Amino acid sequence: MRLRTRIMTLLMAFALTPIALAQSDMTAAADGQYVPRLGDIMNAIQTRHMKLWFAGKSSNWGLAAYELGQLKAGLVEAASMYTGIPATNVNTMGEPVQSISDAIEARDGRRFSKAVDELTAGCNACHRSMERDYIVIRVPDISPFSDQVFAPQNKH
Ligand code: HEC
Repeated sequence: MRLRTRIMTLLMAFALTPIALAQSDMTAAADGQYVPRLGDIMNAIQTRHMKLWFAGKSSNWGLAAYELGQLKAGLVEAASMYTGIPATNVNTMGEPVQSISDAIEARDGRRFSKAVDELTAGCNACHRSMERDYIVIRVPDISPFSDQVFAPQNKH
């Protein structure tokens, strides 16, 4: 439990609004309300993983930061609602999340790509450790989100 709390603190280190939302969802769950299934949280994380990549590739750093926040909130949600998932695997996600954040801050495309590779390896490490080795994540090549513009709309 203490380790889990530490992980949560770690993931929430640069807390943004999405984290606050995740926390209110947790409270709702404790009240016996709707609890999203882990697979559904993961599907949302998968979407953020893709959008994060296309945002970074398009040097849309504002969007990349937003998607990273959403992805992180998803991991926090998964770790808090599903205590059966290994804490150490959630913990290892903290480092690549931080590296991506640093790369976004520095607007460094190369660092960004490397950090997303590390994050993706972290996704798969947990899937393997949970006998889900058939769920393999990779960096995407073509955006399935044809209704969303990833190129930055104005120069910041
Ligand atoms: C701490 C462990 C853990 C981490 C980290 C993790 N996952 Fe998962 N993931 C799971 C588990 C467990 C399942 C299976 C859930 C189930 O059986 O309902 C899963 C399932 C999935 C699925 C399948 C969902 C479906 O229903 O088709 C996808 C996609 C997925 N994860 C994406 C990701 C991505 C992308 C990342 C990294 C950004 C990630 N996961 C990180 C534990 C993890």
